[in-house]
Amino acid sequence: MKHEVIEKNVSLMIILTIVAISFGTLVELVPLIFSKQVSEPVDGLKPLTALQLEGRDIYIREGCNTCHSQMIRALRAESERYGHYSVAGEFVYDRPFLWGSKRTGPDLARVGGRYSDDWHRAHLMNPRDVVPESNMPAFPWLFENTIDSSVTPKKLATLQALGVPYTQADIDGAAASVEGKKEIDAVVAYLQNLGTVLSEKR
Ligand code: HEC
Repeated sequence: MKHEVIEKNVSLMIILTIVAISFGTLVELVPLIFSKQVSEPVDGLKPLTALQLEGRDIYIREGCNTCHSQMIRALRAESERYGHYSVAGEFVYDRPFLWGSKRTGPDLARVGGRYSDDWHRAHLMNPRDVVPESNMPAFPWLFENTIDSSVTPKKLATLQALGVPYTQADIDGAAASVEGKKEIDAVVAYLQNLGTVLSEKR
């Protein structure tokens, strides 16, 4: 049996395994690299404003993404509950993306516009005030901490270098647009924008 030759020769087995895995990887990856559907932004996608971007960083800092996914699967039950399923082109400016898979709380991919700003503020101050059975933690310090605007322009410039289409004017105006704002303002601005680029097509 020819296969026995391979099975009894470790070096040959390793080489052929590498060849097989490399081939599989290429077959999976190369079409994705050339597929516009996954690499181009959906129509109307705008980079986050400076305030929304600060909100996203606070969202990551507070670990919101460990309880909340941002990825609506293409299944009937998911789109009935959350809205249009997520598409790759919505996330091309996200670095890193926050899709996640574990849902302790609901998916937030289309939470933008679902509640008022006041609802979000009350909810983040103490979730039990608006959702009595909630086990989400409270984040009262977001109402006290002021955003450090000195690093905001650098954040936009870094994303610009990575291909996010910020203009020089966006970068120049970044510090002023978050100056003196509280962290809660940034988080709510971020949440209210989530998923809105496609939500009207629900
Ligand atoms: C320990 C897990 C946990 C963490 C951490 C967490 N959440 Fe939640 N979140 C939940 C749960 C559970 C719910 C559902 C109950 C409720 O609405 O309060 C929820 C609900 C929500 C909702 C309402 C979603 C909807 O569609 O009704 C929003 C918005 C939200 N969380 C935002 C945040 C933000 C922003 C952070 C970080 C600052 C955060 N969450 C951190 C567990 C968590």
